Amino acid sequence: MRKMIVLAGSTSLAAVLIAAGCASFPDEATTRQIAEKMMHDGFPGVPPAFAKRVAQDRSQQICSKTGNAKLTQQESADVVKLARASIRYPASGKLIGDWKVGAKLAYNGSGSRIRGGKLEKAKAGNGALCSNCHVLNPKEFNVGNLGPSLAGYGAQRGQSEAVARVTYERIYNTWAYVPCANMPRLGSSGHLAPEQIAHVVAYLLDPQSPVNKR
Ligand code: HEC
Repeated sequence: MRKMIVLAGSTSLAAVLIAAGCASFPDEATTRQIAEKMMHDGFPGVPPAFAKRVAQDRSQQICSKTGNAKLTQQESADVVKLARASIRYPASGKLIGDWKVGAKLAYNGSGSRIRGGKLEKAKAGNGALCSNCHVLNPKEFNVGNLGPSLAGYGAQRGQSEAVARVTYERIYNTWAYVPCANMPRLGSSGHLAPEQIAHVVAYLLDPQSPVNKR
């Protein structure tokens, strides 16, 4: 009975909100401003470099604007171009690092968190947390599935320079390949350093890595 009252109450509230909304809903630019101000005010006291991230960059604006609608060819091309321009490589030029370091990064979710209004510092550097969205080691099952399984990644593709480059770039900023994909732009956002990404590349490619064992 109680549930029904709550339900009836919320239905009529929704009706009022809809009626009010139709009369006075602000235009797209104003809505964006209000949303960005809410985001900004929601994270007081964070360093300016991080505060900048609560405002959408150009590619995020393109990706949000279209929502579930298809991107136009021009929009896709713009997102790819911006992503490409953002990619940096390790100073050493080596795109394949140490797979054992990469293995730790792939399961480590620390860094880039706001706690108590402050940006939390990850003592040992930020983690990559690939396992939140991908199967990596085929023996594990308690991992996320938002992204495709990466089990056997190197065994299937080999370790050529071209494979290493594509893999590196997709981790750095996958929007250079799949505009607006649901994978975070881990390098472009500053979350992972180029050398860290090279270690993760090694974890995906090295024949000794658990990713490539059965
Ligand atoms: C929030 C979820 C999420 C996280 C975290 C994430 N990914 Fe992804 N990943 C995706 C999604 C979704 C796709 C599919 C879209 C695309 O191809 O970009 C993808 C695609 C990929 C691809 C291309 C796969 C193929 O078959 O070509 C690679 C490689 C990849 N991710 C590696 C990684 C690595 C390595 C990490 C950790 C450093 C990582 N991802 C973190 C969601 C994620």
